Amino acid sequence: MSTPPTILVFDSGLGGLTVLREIVRARSDAHFVYVADDAYFPYGHHTEDEIIARVVPLVGELIEAHAPDLVVIACNTASTLVMSHLRDAYPLPFVGTVPAIKPACASSKTRRVSVLGTRGTVKREYTRKLISDFAQGCEVTLVGSGELASLAEAALSGQTVRDEDIAAELAPCFVGTGAGDPARTDTVVLACTHYPLLLERLRRLAPWAVDWIDPAPAIARRVAYLLGPVGTASDTAGAEMIFTSKRPHTLSAALTPFFGGRVPA
Ligand code: DGL
Repeated sequence: MSTPPTILVFDSGLGGLTVLREIVRARSDAHFVYVADDAYFPYGHHTEDEIIARVVPLVGELIEAHAPDLVVIACNTASTLVMSHLRDAYPLPFVGTVPAIKPACASSKTRRVSVLGTRGTVKREYTRKLISDFAQGCEVTLVGSGELASLAEAALSGQTVRDEDIAAELAPCFVGTGAGDPARTDTVVLACTHYPLLLERLRRLAPWAVDWIDPAPAIARRVAYLLGPVGTASDTAGAEMIFTSKRPHTLSAALTPFFGGRVPA
């Protein structure tokens, strides 16, 4: 009987759970270790050098401790910087999360797309390069949000988050005069894994309907492809949830659905 794979999913906080949810659907046999680097959250407020210096050795320690078969960096703010460093440093497969600019521009009808990410992600050379390579003639508006990731964390933790605060972060994504404007934004890339946590509210608060592009299903397909065929054994060790701050987690009921119903230890 083959051993089920261990998949380590890493983010600065709870946003990577939106990626985990899709991977659990694709590989329900696997053992999952979810790591939230909440001691350093939010990554969007740190410099590029600080993020590289933080994430590369930390992921090394996690590999040492959990021996994963594959690591997912479920964070755009980190992935747009650290993937080549990680691949150079550690001999195992890594999957990153970067803004889904190519599919968004391919599907936009009005040829106007917004990329909503952290301030760090929208500043990155990596993101600018994705636009120059894949905009396919679309007008792309970069929107760096200072607060949306923290608002998503607060909402998932059961705190009250005001509609006005979400709407204010969202407003710059909507270019045009309204739903009848043929040149209006019709597609928004969710370039931070925290934002799908707020998707229902984003839809409700948007000034007009748009397509929201969440790359999580594509990431899950990539993970499944790299791991190869599902073996005969299923994981019985459940799932683990680790906060780098070492805070005890009081979120289990809210977290369980992201782990496919398993209660993370
Ligand atoms: N979830 C992270 C991302 O995808 C960012 C949140 C943060 O600023 O730490 O970019």
